[in-house]
This record gives sequence, C-alpha cells and structure tokens, in this order.
Amino acid sequence: MGKIVINGGRSLNGTVRIAGSKNASVAVIPAALLADGASVIENLPDITDVTTLAEIISELGADVTYGCDGRMVIDPRRFDCYQAPYELVKRLRASYYLLGVLLAKFGRAEVALPGGCNIGLRPVDQHLKGFRALGADASLEHGIVKVRASRLIGAPIYLDVVSVGATINIMLAAVFAQGVTLIENAAKEPHVVGLANFLNSMGANVQGAGTDVIRIKGVKSLHGSDHSVVPDEIEAATFMMAAVATGGDVTVTNIIPKHVDPVTAKLRESGAEVEENGDYLRVKGPERPRAVNVKTLPYPGFPTDCQQPFVALMTRADGISVVQETIYDNRFGYANELIRMGANIKVDGRTAIVEGVSRLFGAPVRASDLRAGAAMIIAGLAAEGRTEIYGIEHILRGYERVVEKYGSLGADIALENER
Ligand code: UD1
Repeated sequence: MGKIVINGGRSLNGTVRIAGSKNASVAVIPAALLADGASVIENLPDITDVTTLAEIISELGADVTYGCDGRMVIDPRRFDCYQAPYELVKRLRASYYLLGVLLAKFGRAEVALPGGCNIGLRPVDQHLKGFRALGADASLEHGIVKVRASRLIGAPIYLDVVSVGATINIMLAAVFAQGVTLIENAAKEPHVVGLANFLNSMGANVQGAGTDVIRIKGVKSLHGSDHSVVPDEIEAATFMMAAVATGGDVTVTNIIPKHVDPVTAKLRESGAEVEENGDYLRVKGPERPRAVNVKTLPYPGFPTDCQQPFVALMTRADGISVVQETIYDNRFGYANELIRMGANIKVDGRTAIVEGVSRLFGAPVRASDLRAGAAMIIAGLAAEGRTEIYGIEHILRGYERVVEKYGSLGADIALENER
C-alpha cells in the first residue's frame, strides 16, 4: 500500500482546512437509507471509510453518487436488503449502524460483526440491549448479528456504559418505533447531535441529543433531506497537537472551537498559545512543551481518540506526564513504536507514564490503528531524521489527504511505494 516518509525537525506553519467528521459521516450515510427519497450529504471527508461505506450501501441496493467535492447523493428507493455479509462489512467497524437502520426499515437485520481498529475488545452488548428493549429478538450466530421484530415499540433504555455506537444505533432503530424511546446515559459527542439534526430534518422527532437523555418519538416515515457533516474535531485536534509538537504556528479552520475545548485546555497547560475566533483556532507551540497529565473520558472529556497523538506530543515534553486511558482496555500498544524512536514510556495497564526526552530520532514504525498512525506522524514530525510509517491504510481510513495537508504546512512528508 505504501509508506509515509517524514524528514522531521521542521516546525509546522500556516493554515489548514478541517474536513467533515469521519465519525459523523459513517452515521449519517446509513441514516439516509431510512428515507423514502434521496438525500444530499455535504462536507464529507475524502477518506477510505467514506468510500468503503458508499460501496457497501450501493452493493446492498442504494443508488449512490459520490464526487470528489465531498458531496454524496443517496437514493434508497431501490434498497431492499436486510443482510450485510462479512465480505462487505469487514473493512469498516461502523457498518454496525446498518443494524439499527435495517431493523427500523425492514423489521429485520443480519449484519456480520465488523472489523475496525485494533485497540481492545469492542463489544456490542449495549446496542443489542437497546434493540431488545424496543421489542426485537437479537442473537449472534456464526459471527453474524441477527435482529428481528414484528413491531418496534418505544421504551426507556439505560446504557450501562456511555457508548457512542449504542446511542447512535438505538436512535436509528427507534425513529419509527411506536411511542417514545428514551436513551439514558447517552453519549454526547458532536456527531450524535449532528445525526439527530439530520434525522429531524428528514421528519424524525429526536430531542435532547447532546445531553444525557435522548427522547425519540416514533414517526411513520422520513423524507430525503440535505445535510452538511459537522467538522472533524479529532482531525482539528490532531493538527493542533502537531503544531505544538513542532513548535509551530498553525491555524485550523472550518471547525467549531468548542468541540475541541478539552484539547485546547491541555495544550494551553502545556505552554501553547491558543487563540479562538469564530470557526477557527490558531495554535502557537512553545519551544518545548511542559508535561501535563491527561485522563480520557466520554465527551466533553478529553477524547480517547486524541490519547495516542497526545502521548506522542508528551514524549518530548519537559517533565513527566501521566496519561490514563479509561475508555479502552488496550490502547497503548503503539507506545513500543514511539520507544523505538527514543521515547521513554512505561505502560502499566491503562496508564502510561511518559518521561519527556529532549530528542526523538526517526525510525521505521508501524501504525497499528488509525490514531496510532496520527501519533506516528506527530512523532515523525518532531523527530530528527527520517521516519518511515507503515500500515498507512489505517491512517487513510480516517485522515483526509494527510500528506498534502501536512506538506502544505511545511512538513517534509511524502507517500512512497513500499519496496
Ligand atoms: C466511537 C468512535 C471512536 C471512539 C469511541 C469512543 C465512531 C464511528 N467511532 O466508537 O472513534 O474512539 O466512540 O469515543 O463514532 N462498549 C461496551 N458495550 C457496547 C458498546 C461499547 O462495553 O455495546 C464499550 C467499549 O468497549 C468502550 C466504550 O464502551 O470501552 C466506548 O465505546 P463506544 O463509545 O461504543 O465506541 P464506538 O462507538 O465503537
């Protein structure tokens, strides 16, 4: 597939436009299948998760037109399939949203358990708990999740863990359920709100998204609608961290600054200057960041998706930082790659102790998942010499035109074919 090669040691300077959110896109695209007419989705990021999902839904019968301008037209009128086999869904974890959509649309769904990032166990018990509460039978047979209901009836559903996926899947499943569904202890991420806005623009009745309790009153049908995907706060935060790691001066545009508040706060603590204005943020890194502690939490806490790039930033900080991962049980595997670049990191279960070093050295490294890839890029930019990053298919799943974007900020970065 190729490798990303970085000759590090240059500071990043300039302006970068942030794409639409990956995590919002993979929810909004299947949601369009619930309508009885075509929807137009704009501001989609140019990433392989989006093209893969477009391929999956068109294989299943939807008419999909997708241009390179981030605009997708989805007409689900010929979509009539309740089964999504492993060969189709294996490349995309978020294909589990087809469960909620197909259950709502056909009263039946059979979707193979998908693949995705290698960051620890990712069960779907809370999704199934929600479907069952709505009256569906749900089982896992030979790697395929099967759900079926003669009628879905709204119900209160308390999530035992704050799960983005379960919150979204239950919202999707409940749009046509008779009566009222309450999702309690719901996830509050910006893309949960984005999805609710899209569903409501299609004629759904979803209230409270962005709070702990989401209330869905079932409607009879949904019509096609237009929607612009919310900006990707994780991509924005990644560029902000890269700016600080290289002592640079970077402005990220087309964002909602509030969505990156926890990262902004931590970067300020580390000595960065962050100027906020309208739809952009300007970040100026200090010569060397100070070590700060971080604990990942559900939104609006510090995002687990920023944990890996933040550790990469802390590898060169002045002092010792303690990074606690509370969302996933195995999200420090990438630390070994940073250690090969000269970082001093000790991992004990869900905690990493990062003792900052004054210099990192370029090395060949492998990205084991999407955000680990972001960490490798940040470390490579901050390191002396040449870093080769393998496993870039993970990075291209979720970061748009990553080489061009960092290159436009002054990085010496290129995509090379593997020999
Ligand atoms: C979403 C994001 C991902 C992010 C994660 C946490 C998308 C497409 N992906 O993933 O980028 O890292 O939120 O912010 O939006 N859990 C259960 N049972 C379940 C579901 C989840 O125990 O049924 C646990 C998970 O193992 C994990 C925690 O809940 O420990 C949070 O997972 P969840 O929010 O569901 O993550 P995803 O929706 O898969």
